[in-house]
Amino acid sequence: MDQDIEVLARTIRRLTGIEIGYYKPNQLQRRLGNMMGRAGARTFAEYARVLETDPDALAYFVDKFTINVSELFRNPEKFEQLRDHFLAPMLRRFGRLSIWSAGCSIGAEIYSVVMLMDQLDPRGTHRYLATDIDAAVLERARKGQYCDQDVRNVAPALMSRYFTREGSTWQVCDAIRSRVQFRRHDLLQDRFESGFHLILCRNVVIYFNDDAKSVLYRRFYEALVPGGALFVGGTERIPDAREIGFQTTMPFFYVRPDGQPGSRGAASLNQGTGLPARGAGVSGPSERHRRGTQ
Ligand SMILES: C[S@@+](CC[C@H](N)C(=O)[O-])C[C@H]1O[C@@H](n2cnc3c(N)ncnc32)[C@H](O)[C@@H]1O
Repeated sequence: MDQDIEVLARTIRRLTGIEIGYYKPNQLQRRLGNMMGRAGARTFAEYARVLETDPDALAYFVDKFTINVSELFRNPEKFEQLRDHFLAPMLRRFGRLSIWSAGCSIGAEIYSVVMLMDQLDPRGTHRYLATDIDAAVLERARKGQYCDQDVRNVAPALMSRYFTREGSTWQVCDAIRSRVQFRRHDLLQDRFESGFHLILCRNVVIYFNDDAKSVLYRRFYEALVPGGALFVGGTERIPDAREIGFQTTMPFFYVRPDGQPGSRGAASLNQGTGLPARGAGVSGPSERHRRGTQ
């Protein structure tokens, strides 16, 4: 990053907690260029001043930068595999499951999983954590309200069981909604919990640079219990999966095998982020962004 973009990066980091240095440079510059054009800013420094002084421009930046596209049962056949090859056997083996949707956007992904789990184990008291960097999208997720397009892949039986129609939206029922804990969390800067049986991180890392991805996948490995699985997006694969220690039984699912040690180079990852610092103040989201977002 040249000096000018470094000024913008610092401003964005301070105002939002987002660390743009971990995103792919070409895509980053293109996306910033579009947003700057809309804001009438000709340089990165000018755009930094706009973000500083115009709350609407800042909200627009966060909204566009994070790209929240999602829907329930995105890639439905993968959710069938998830149910039959992972959730059902894990339930038999572990009893109570701990599941994390990382980069959950509007909550469509985690609600899809809770619905599947409710079908498999209606009395279960499983733990569901859903996190995202974008506080505004988490508010939407908590509400659990969706349009026709968002629910187009939901099976009719699940539709009638878990949704009610309210005007033009589909409302997820409280019994499903209340089981999920939504929380703001930056995958590139915040600490990870551990002990998960399933982590879903789909269509999130596509904009991250290779270093960030590599560290992130190691951290996911560490956050899983032996026998736990990481479920990634339909266009994603982990190039160094074997080196990390993952087994791949079918595309888009990566399993931490039983009896495996920690991943190579990940010994202390859950003590910190494992990512190189990108400048002053990179250690965590700003107070301003944290307030009202947990
Ligand atoms: C395209 S959505 C994917 C939603 C869902 N996982 C799916 O596949 O349908 C990507 C989400 O990743 C979130 N995201 C981007 N960078 C992130 C980061 N550093 N930490 C956590 N979430 C992030 C965005 O806010 C956005 O909601």
